[in-house]
Amino acid sequence: MGLKEIFEKNPDRRYIMFGGKGGLGKTTFSAATAWWLAKQGKRVLVFSVDPQASLTDIFQRDIFGKGPVKIAENLWAQEIDADSHIKEYQQEIRKKILDMYGLPAVPEEIEHYIQAASAEPAMEESAIFDAVVDVVVKGDYDYYIYDLVPLGHALYYLSMAKVYDEWINKVTRLREEMREYEEMVSRLRRQKETEQDQILNELLYIKGRINASSSILTDKAKTAFFFVVVPEQMIITDTQKAAKLFAQFDVPIGGYVVNRVVPRQLLEQHIPDYLRNRIKMQDQHLRDIRTTFNSQVLAYVPELERDVTGLAMIEKLAGIMYG
Ligand SMILES: Nc1ncnc2c1ncn2[C@@H]1O[C@H](COP(=O)(O)OP(=O)(O)OP(=O)(O)O)[C@@H](O)[C@H]1O
Ligand SMILES: [Mg+2]
Repeated sequence: MGLKEIFEKNPDRRYIMFGGKGGLGKTTFSAATAWWLAKQGKRVLVFSVDPQASLTDIFQRDIFGKGPVKIAENLWAQEIDADSHIKEYQQEIRKKILDMYGLPAVPEEIEHYIQAASAEPAMEESAIFDAVVDVVVKGDYDYYIYDLVPLGHALYYLSMAKVYDEWINKVTRLREEMREYEEMVSRLRRQKETEQDQILNELLYIKGRINASSSILTDKAKTAFFFVVVPEQMIITDTQKAAKLFAQFDVPIGGYVVNRVVPRQLLEQHIPDYLRNRIKMQDQHLRDIRTTFNSQVLAYVPELERDVTGLAMIEKLAGIMYG
């Protein structure tokens, strides 16, 4: 089965991700897929949280931190600026402190604390996580294509979601128990009902959001995660390892797309031994890919004559990938 058939046979899989090691073609395939789907008449958002602004590069448009930017008919691209989300977070915390204690300004020690906490990687992760949840939960598009950061980072992100979820489960349970106890006490004292439990409500809200997003990410019916590989030994080995880890996080793997295959037609021309040898090496690794991933390989994408940037190249690549 090819990529096109996979999309046609699974119209409910509307959350699409291309994963893989750094620089293999995740952003390129995300853009080409978004382009093709938009051409099929679907409303598509391709988005990333990558601070390197690679969607800006490939679409040759300044997208970073600007919300969804229309690229073509039915196609929008968005680069989430995680830094500005952290700043919004800080602002929210400050506001809560001021409201809660009725203070005119945030005390200096607390301001220090807020600044320090924002430098924590966990803070950045949760800001990113929050931003992605915001985009996906809104549900304005037919397809969401999440242009991922390199593998290691994506795995870390998924594991964060799992840890978050478990942690919140625990705290919510504790809080519910406490609430029961408080209600009992207040009944005994014949007080009026306990006030709405703000903290419990907040926790339940966060939990609802995380459940919504992680159920989307791990739902076979709704999500397709494709691995990008290239015909190189190390990449094949690393991809196998990563696939195992992803399976542990219940991410449904939709298949593999092989990139940067040197066109075999070159063999019919006068080419230097250097290139002939590269092709021979690739042949060996391609056999390896076929035996390792066999029917899960959905497409072979040739090494093109130049980088894939700009709509003309994206369209060309989409034509190759989706026929
Ligand atoms: N088949 C191809 N032919 C020619 N150039 C390609 C091909 N696929 C990708 N490229 C080029 O390789 C570079 C890396 O591709 P891309 O940015 O899509 O990788 P990535 O996996 O998103 O990288 P990162 O891990 O940094 O996000 C880009 O310059 C892209 O234009
Ligand atoms: Mg990329």
